[in-house]
Amino acid sequence: MLDNSYSYVTSPILRVSSSSSRLGAEEAFVYLARSMELKRRGVDVVSFGIGQPDFQPPPHIIAYAKEAMDAGFNGYGPSLGMPELREAVAEFLNEKYRLDIRPDEVAITAGAKAAVFIGMLALLEPGDEVIIPDPSYPLYESVANFIGARVKFFRLHKGNNYKIKFEDIERLVADKTRMVVINYPENPVGSTMDRRDVESLVELAYERKFVVLSDEIYDHFVYEGHHHSTLQTDYWRDVVYYVNGFSKTFGMTGWRLGYVVANRELVSKLSVIANNMYSCPVTFAQIAAAKALRDGLEWFKPILEQYRRRRDLIYSKLLSIKGVEVVKPEGAFYIFPDFSKVIRAKGMKNERELADRLLEERGVVVLPGTAFPKEAGAGHLRFSFAVREEDIEKGVQRIRSWIEG
Ligand SMILES: Cc1ncc(COP(=O)(O)O)c(C=O)c1O
Repeated sequence: MLDNSYSYVTSPILRVSSSSSRLGAEEAFVYLARSMELKRRGVDVVSFGIGQPDFQPPPHIIAYAKEAMDAGFNGYGPSLGMPELREAVAEFLNEKYRLDIRPDEVAITAGAKAAVFIGMLALLEPGDEVIIPDPSYPLYESVANFIGARVKFFRLHKGNNYKIKFEDIERLVADKTRMVVINYPENPVGSTMDRRDVESLVELAYERKFVVLSDEIYDHFVYEGHHHSTLQTDYWRDVVYYVNGFSKTFGMTGWRLGYVVANRELVSKLSVIANNMYSCPVTFAQIAAAKALRDGLEWFKPILEQYRRRRDLIYSKLLSIKGVEVVKPEGAFYIFPDFSKVIRAKGMKNERELADRLLEERGVVVLPGTAFPKEAGAGHLRFSFAVREEDIEKGVQRIRSWIEG
């Protein structure tokens, strides 16, 4: 158990560097720790906090991992991933999108987060301009700041169902623009992106010579329409740095497996960075993931339907709370309601106070919208609905009774 009674002294000798101080903490993990502490004290917590699927990988995939360990895949492997998995990813995407990706255009990484990190390290210089959605997954801004790049945000608008719109990015592109980051389905708003916007952005990137870092980790959590990937565009080999992973679709957040698809020259350059950072991704996990990909995703269909029901339920429940405005998400497993009127009516400072009070007074974990930079999240809360339906009912009811009571 942690001993909090000891009073720690700080040591000026152990001061941290200015670059590492520029990294931001992902607040979902801060709230995860707080909710675990409350649970430990016996509080009945309902958590809409961390973005983690609530299902386990199917038993056949777990069996593959055990078999791989038994077969001796417990040592180091190549920094860019096991050939089996690089091939399986290429084949999987080729079949899905009718493409001709080759295994040397794929890198396996220690999670999608590492894929973003090493990609930004490889591609950005201090002073380069990076364009990022507001709100967005906090990692992108954090890593850009760490590198000393200059971040420009473009706002996602409620009126467009929070979709990333090409025109909003085009307006910001300048000569110094080196990278545009997109993520769709989007965390935290759950929006998808229209084909026209994806294609126009990649064309513009080609003309104006910037990179499109496209994080498509929620590509299988789509409730309306189809996911149109940046890999389906004509110029992907010239401008796209594609990120995906196994954490969400396969329920394998702890396996730490992500991947990149990009021009093979760039992929080969990632090897040194990956090697310095983590040597290689987990070996037995890769062998299991390669087999899992080859088996296909038939088992995922009922999960998608279950998540769709949860989305419908949480949307209708939140909508029925007086003063709450909410957009129905089309993908991922997040919803981003606007509580501004509630915050005003209750005389609270902001969404942070609201999130704190819901946690302390009702045992409900939600994340403040401003944990997702930069300003668009003011007055908003992010809910992950990777949660059982009865917990959605219970959690939202607690919020409603706290607000209306
Ligand atoms: C948009 C986005 N990208 C990447 C990640 C991280 O994925 P991984 O667990 O593979 O590092 C997350 C996790 O929440 C995410 O929401």
